[in-house]
Amino acid sequence: MALRNILKEGDETLTKHCRPVTDFNERLHLLLDDMAETMNDAEGVGLAAPQVGVLRRAVVVLETNVAEGEEPYVIELVNPRLIATEGEQEGPEGCLSVPGVYGWVKRPAYAKVRAQDRNGEYFEVEGHGLTARAFCHEIAHLEGQLFLEVSDHIMSEEELEAYYKVADLFLCMSEHEGFGIPILEAMSRGIPVVAYAATAVPYTMGGAGILVRTKDEASVSRKMARVLCDSNYREKIIAGQL
Ligand code: NI
Repeated sequence: MALRNILKEGDETLTKHCRPVTDFNERLHLLLDDMAETMNDAEGVGLAAPQVGVLRRAVVVLETNVAEGEEPYVIELVNPRLIATEGEQEGPEGCLSVPGVYGWVKRPAYAKVRAQDRNGEYFEVEGHGLTARAFCHEIAHLEGQLFLEVSDHIMSEEELEAYYKVADLFLCMSEHEGFGIPILEAMSRGIPVVAYAATAVPYTMGGAGILVRTKDEASVSRKMARVLCDSNYREKIIAGQL
């Protein structure tokens, strides 16, 4: 496996329509392995083949909505197609090909994709929150579309600052969890709480979580994933030690 160079906005490759994958061979496996490694190295939550210069319909997405104790894992989608979407979420969205730029983007809250795996077998996969966002974002890459084209507006430094300034700590809870208690606990410890409504967050989680906000969306999702997987880490955050 190897890290691949991530093309940046302005490179024509990123505007091209990608062709379907027809050969499920070693070359494809190597591409998918490299894409996962490149995405992880860049702390992203999704990467499409054209971003590494390959005009084929293949993407990888990091599934961060995992149960406590489980690690986030990479979903490989070959020739993916959105077959169902539901709901809506909105928030800042970024891209590894457009570093440092965030745009306000509306996406479905839920998305279902039909795709092939690396061996050509068809399967369906569902995504919620950030994963649904990533499915839509990555599949758009295969049509040569960047999030910049679907963004309501690109956020200025000041807007981003304001958005993230709301607090250093952000609680993100499913409606089914008793979210009042951790929030009160955080507040009693002097930790600012921003929001806990699912609509305020692009990351609708299956369970309780506590999210530290930074300016880097990718890093946010990584931290969130870690928080969700690691209760010690979560307790440290509640205690204000991280
Ligand atoms: Ni992207």
